[in-house]
Amino acid sequence: MRNVHEMSGGKYDDCWLRYAENGTSKSYRERCSNVYASVEAPELGAVRDELRRGFRGLLGREPHFWQHPPRSADGFLAVGTPAEMEVVSDCVSSEAVESLDDEGFLIRTADWEGAEIVVVTASTDRGLVYGTFYLLRHMSLGRPLDSLDVVREPTNAERIVNHWDNPFRRSVERGYAGPSIFDFERLPDLRERYVDYARLLASVGINGIVVNNVNTQIPNRDGANEATNELGGWQLLETRYLEKLTGLAALFRRYGIRLYLSVNFGAPEKFGDLDTADPCDDRIEQWWAAKADEIHECIPDFGGFLVKADSEGQPGPYNYDADHVNGANVLARALEPHSGRVWWRAFVYDSHEDRAVQQYNTFEPLDGEFHENVTVQVKNGPIDFQPREPVSPVFGQMPETNLGLELQITGEYTGQHVHACYHVPMWKEVLEFDTDPEGRGRRVKNLFTEEGTGIAGVSGPGDDPNWTGHYLAQANLYGYGRLAWNPDLDDETITDEWVRQTFGDDPAVIETVTDIMHDSWPAVIDYTTGGLGLLHMMYNGEARLENHYDPSPEEWPGYHGATEDGIGKDRNSKGNGYTQQYPAALAAGYDDPETCPNELLLFFHHLPWEYELEDGRTVVQTLYDNCFAGAAEAERLRDEWNSLDGKIDDERFRHIAERFDEQVVQAERWRDTLVAFFYERSSVPDQRGRVPSADASDESGA
Ligand code: GCU
Repeated sequence: MRNVHEMSGGKYDDCWLRYAENGTSKSYRERCSNVYASVEAPELGAVRDELRRGFRGLLGREPHFWQHPPRSADGFLAVGTPAEMEVVSDCVSSEAVESLDDEGFLIRTADWEGAEIVVVTASTDRGLVYGTFYLLRHMSLGRPLDSLDVVREPTNAERIVNHWDNPFRRSVERGYAGPSIFDFERLPDLRERYVDYARLLASVGINGIVVNNVNTQIPNRDGANEATNELGGWQLLETRYLEKLTGLAALFRRYGIRLYLSVNFGAPEKFGDLDTADPCDDRIEQWWAAKADEIHECIPDFGGFLVKADSEGQPGPYNYDADHVNGANVLARALEPHSGRVWWRAFVYDSHEDRAVQQYNTFEPLDGEFHENVTVQVKNGPIDFQPREPVSPVFGQMPETNLGLELQITGEYTGQHVHACYHVPMWKEVLEFDTDPEGRGRRVKNLFTEEGTGIAGVSGPGDDPNWTGHYLAQANLYGYGRLAWNPDLDDETITDEWVRQTFGDDPAVIETVTDIMHDSWPAVIDYTTGGLGLLHMMYNGEARLENHYDPSPEEWPGYHGATEDGIGKDRNSKGNGYTQQYPAALAAGYDDPETCPNELLLFFHHLPWEYELEDGRTVVQTLYDNCFAGAAEAERLRDEWNSLDGKIDDERFRHIAERFDEQVVQAERWRDTLVAFFYERSSVPDQRGRVPSADASDESGA
């Protein structure tokens, strides 16, 4: 099976865009050997390139391209808008196309003057890009072309990836796949790899990319924070870099993807001769407006700014006695004439005793005050992308604000792409969550369908040949895009699509890989948390080099609340009141340990070690059992993978097998560290005699 394609400088994996020939190639050849495609717009260049590449694999040969209908052919593929192509307007009603939203498309099989044709149409060129990728996916999955009647539109208008890339170091914060894909120093030179990345993103419907880190440290004038100099690429706002970004933006534009920048709120002070970045100062208003005009000159479809303000050392409006509304709105006014948007992150916390409570307290009172072109971007949970968290109480409770959901595609806390961990089931849990079961009854997935709302994924692809470090982590990028386009898709559908496109149609391979994907997340939860809602038990390490990978439960007592008498954190009405941030029905459910879901129990409650759960086991026994079960599961997943030896190409087989070997070792390490810690604090032995009484926590990553 073809699994890589040659590029200058190396071999890069095709991920799910492998376009492997399958049993239906003959029937595909009849309809698709000839392609009549419009040539008008740059996006159509992307369409033609993709069809050429796709059909080379799927049909076993490149198609003939025509600038008019190929009359001698028995069938052909027509790609274009009805306005440009009569064939299309003959086969599809113009009203049907006009009523599609900008990114929607329509695909239909038709009989045209005796020829059997497939029509891909849309009202915009971007729609044609998505339609083409849809058709290629359909064919990669071996599905028939004879009675296609497909209409698709994205559910969410904004579907963005956030790169945490540090442009001038080419490092990626929380990236586990080598250096940044982007070589900013060499811009405006463009790497072939950018095209491949744009293809991967567009194929799953991503339409925006923030190219630099939200942490955009600006060095102190005295050089005091030298260690963090150059992080994040605050310099990208300088004229010389904006000019260089022009070509990159144009490349992504061909694939319907708009470019965004993370910006440092203190930028006016750094760049100008201004002595403030106070959002309420007229000079600052003018500075940002002029900057937005300048960017627009270079990048006419510039998406906007992503801002991390007043968080983890980043400057923000608080530095100037202003609030988040002042801060976000000054940027929004600057971008408004250019249809740009501010993505203002809600990930704001300071020295508060428990950061879970802070985002709702900070943002909910500001509901209704943000400018129309501000989106408040909220992480799925109140802490920080932990393996499992409750859904943030901000969702559903700021009805007058455009909200964005921030998910983490990269596996910062889920094994950092050494461990296999499929995030799609976790995201489905978040998206399906009902934010107010006895009230407005709005599920998270329904909150981002209005204009100005959307989904952002913190992406981790890097320059490694397989893009994501672990081949199986490619599924997280795939699944993220598919869910951002249509959050109603179920995880089985997404997994099945991904597995078949990535590994082919051998039923044994499909079944095994599918099982591994689905069981991977629960395993990671079990051995890194004990499965009852504990979190943040990992090693931190030196500032800016945080490891977040090894076990270190001693390090963060504030998160798990382990004492001699029990474990968990009273984020309830007896404790810090966090449960009360949720609407009444949810608050009541979480507030009582008898009704609180087991998997979140210790997130909300500090309970005695020997508190009895519904199944008769104690809290501590359940923690022991889950840690052991998780590590055993990692081993089982490894064995499952090893059963594929000889059934898939060697390169991927071995790479993944080696990752699994390491995962098993690490899972055991997590298990041993956590159970020793639970035992040391509780003095309650494991009923099954598996927990050694010696203190194994010395072996933590510290
Ligand atoms: C986490 C992560 C940081 C990141 C931060 C954020 O804390 O570890 O690397 O900067 O989230 O989301 O801003």
